[in-house]
Amino acid sequence: MAAARLVVLVSGSGTNLQALLDAISEDPQYGAEIVAVGADRDEIAGLERAERAGLPTFVCKVKEYDSRDAWDAALADAVSAYEPDLVVSAGFMKIVGKEFLARFGGRFVNTHPALLPSFPGAHGVRDALAYGAKVTGCTVHFVDDGVDTGPIIAQGVVAVRDEDDEAALHERIKEVERQLLVDVVGRLARNGYSIEGRKVHVGEHGHR
Ligand code: GRF
Repeated sequence: MAAARLVVLVSGSGTNLQALLDAISEDPQYGAEIVAVGADRDEIAGLERAERAGLPTFVCKVKEYDSRDAWDAALADAVSAYEPDLVVSAGFMKIVGKEFLARFGGRFVNTHPALLPSFPGAHGVRDALAYGAKVTGCTVHFVDDGVDTGPIIAQGVVAVRDEDDEAALHERIKEVERQLLVDVVGRLARNGYSIEGRKVHVGEHGHR
């Protein structure tokens, strides 16, 4: 089967993107290729990583559009131009809207740095720490129209240490998160999948 086409969306340092790039270049059987990288802002390390890898990039900034819906439609158009099988939000710090989900729902994957449904939103690491949770981690899930509420594909657990601050905990979570994302995207691409309600089945009997 041809490699699944991925468009990856980033807003920051892009270490999750880099992990996907490394996995693809190291393993000819990985099953996916990145065809473009998009962002909601420029001058970020994530875009530099894409450029170093020789990939096309695009930037859609909310403030350049008259409305959030216009931005969302423009983002959907930009992504759609690369005809992706899967779209991966790898630290993309924007909530997409109706148009984007109408076109990419069911094949739009996000990674979140907490064990959902605990601690959704932009500060998952800080919130888990402030709550006093003893374990937290990361969740790779399909995106639906809520904030970090879509069907869960896989999770990784990280113990919270007494001496942790947000940065230290986030760094340990990201080590697990990168491996989990690489594993999940590869399995979705190679084995296909199906989504029934909240349950995601990845494997021989799924479909892409
Ligand atoms: C990840 O922890 C992601 O879950 C969070 O932001 C981080 C992005 O890291 N939303 P990077 O840009 O992939 O290095």
